[in-house]
Amino acid sequence: MAETQNWVPLGIDTNVPSMARVYDYILGGAHNFAADRQVGGQIEKLVPGLPSVARLNRRFLGRAVNFLMDQGIRQFLDIGSGIPTVANVHEVAQERDPAARVVYVDKDPVAVAHSQLLLADNENAAIVQADMREPEVVLSSPEVARLLRLDEPVGLLMLLMMHWVPDEDGPEKLVAHYRDALPAGSFLVMTHVAKDQIDDSVDEAAAVVNRSRSADQMHMRDHARVSALFDGFSLVEPGLVGCGEWRPDGPGDFADEASMNMFLYAGVGRKD
Ligand SMILES: C[S@@+](CC[C@H](N)C(=O)[O-])C[C@H]1O[C@@H](n2cnc3c(N)ncnc32)[C@H](O)[C@@H]1O
Repeated sequence: MAETQNWVPLGIDTNVPSMARVYDYILGGAHNFAADRQVGGQIEKLVPGLPSVARLNRRFLGRAVNFLMDQGIRQFLDIGSGIPTVANVHEVAQERDPAARVVYVDKDPVAVAHSQLLLADNENAAIVQADMREPEVVLSSPEVARLLRLDEPVGLLMLLMMHWVPDEDGPEKLVAHYRDALPAGSFLVMTHVAKDQIDDSVDEAAAVVNRSRSADQMHMRDHARVSALFDGFSLVEPGLVGCGEWRPDGPGDFADEASMNMFLYAGVGRKD
């Protein structure tokens, strides 16, 4: 199929699941393969509320980008941006200001190929294929040099991202590396699976992911550990809270089931 040729980069092993594509499957997208759907189906059976958690995460992204626009932010670095879906960062930001600039970063080749297709005609947005654990590769990329002014405040986004970074890779240090490259007045926006808010079924779902052939392994963290990732940022009200509790603005922003609202911690911090 012509479409398939466009977004399946040569040389990827489609039998190995990738979390970018499993997430796309959970969100109801079409950019995933049988191996991704198998893992996605298994974890959805264990945690049937996952699609609604994924949607709450995307709604939070929209509210957070709008909040940053209200604060005057016009440039964004979205790390672990994933396969484009509805209401991507550049769409939310450029609807308010077409001159807003966005650099996406992902290591997944399908996420990158699909983003390149989507952004082909958008001179104010681009994607970098990189592993965020190499901050200098990201920060010295031609896309960052072209689109971001690192002496002006930046919105740094890491949504559903840091729980793919194991403790041995020093997640706090990694976030700090990005923080130190940005001026005061920049913002960090993050969601992260809330280890201390979820039940055993999520441990089982994480085990399914971690037993799969995927290179992505899940590392859940509790409130104190996620708060530590905001070191050097002052959390804006209401602090680090359940994703559905962060300034909900309408019915789609929170779930009827309280456990869904608390599944992810969500926070926005301003660099001091
Ligand atoms: C669950 S998706 C989240 C997508 C989007 N941020 C959102 O919240 O809707 C996580 C993304 O992080 C990417 N990712 C995981 N580890 C990464 C790393 N070390 N460097 C860059 N991207 C990474 C995955 O490829 C995937 O696309």
